[in-house]
Amino acid sequence: MSHRVPMQPQRVDAPLTQSATFLILSVTESPGAISTVRSTLASIDGLAKNVAIRDLGASFACTVGIGSDVWDRVTGLPRPAELHPFTAVKGGVHTAVSTPGDLLFHIRSERRDLCFEFERQLMDLLGDAVAVVDETVGFRYFDVRDLLGFVDGTANPVGPDVPASILVAEEDEAAAGGSYVVVQKYVHDLKAWHALPAEQQEAIIGRTKLDNVELDDAVSGQQSHKTLATIEDENGDEHDILRDNMPFGSPGSGEFGTYFIGYSRRLWVIERMLQRMFVGSPPGLHDRLLDFSKPLTGTTFFVPSSSVLASLDSD
Ligand code: HEM
Repeated sequence: MSHRVPMQPQRVDAPLTQSATFLILSVTESPGAISTVRSTLASIDGLAKNVAIRDLGASFACTVGIGSDVWDRVTGLPRPAELHPFTAVKGGVHTAVSTPGDLLFHIRSERRDLCFEFERQLMDLLGDAVAVVDETVGFRYFDVRDLLGFVDGTANPVGPDVPASILVAEEDEAAAGGSYVVVQKYVHDLKAWHALPAEQQEAIIGRTKLDNVELDDAVSGQQSHKTLATIEDENGDEHDILRDNMPFGSPGSGEFGTYFIGYSRRLWVIERMLQRMFVGSPPGLHDRLLDFSKPLTGTTFFVPSSSVLASLDSD
């Protein structure tokens, strides 16, 4: 089946890089804030080009997400069908918290300085129209491992499966070419994690640690992370999402984290993953990864097509 995308998408499918900045902003009540945000978003392509050209080998890309609470005011466009604020998921032991955020900038490059420079110019343009909610700088750790020591991102879709998994299409014409994105900033208890034997860690993740081989699903009882995060619909079709997780942290202050970011054509797929992880499947048997990983944030955005962003300066 062909996947018709009438709009030019943002660079949602840009590759994983050595460095990434995750910037979450709220829009302030200052006079003219909305129009400043609109004109900045409309010119974001130009801003990205200005920075990217300074080292074309450094794979610079920025994607912009817009939150549910400001969608109407910032875009004036019909709402993407599934867009709503992140719904907290309360499991028996762990909770996926819901935290504020109106705008997400996912800034990527092989070079930290390009991410920095883009963010500097962006913040200059936005001025007092925004307030920073969270700014996290992530880095690549060896062969795309998370700080738990596992290769992270293996099961991501590749090639033609990427647009089919992440871009809204004919099911919601007004939102076509866009993508839902969910972010959660996790911090790990590395001391406790390192106290586990590697075999137990592997059973929790569902893959071997050194050579990243997928383990079989458990026949019953406690399921691994990769099993809980595998979603099939009622027809038995599996729905993938695109993850660009990055490690972050500071050994000096004892902070070790994973910034989770998942793009999807269907928000319900990520929501169902969170349900299965936090509540458990069967309920009660939550994802054991959460015993060592606590989400400090949880926010949902819609990443409209590039064409939609460019049109925001029309007033
Ligand atoms: C798989 C780590 C949170 C969704 C994996 C894998 C690792 C991992 C190591 C196996 C390799 C791979 O396929 O990438 C983590 C860490 C997290 C985290 C460290 C945070 C502390 C999440 C969350 C979601 C999620 C919050 C979704 C809401 C997935 C999916 C897979 C996966 C869809 C692939 C499953 C498959 O094999 O099809 N994760 N993850 N992860 N994770 Fe996570």
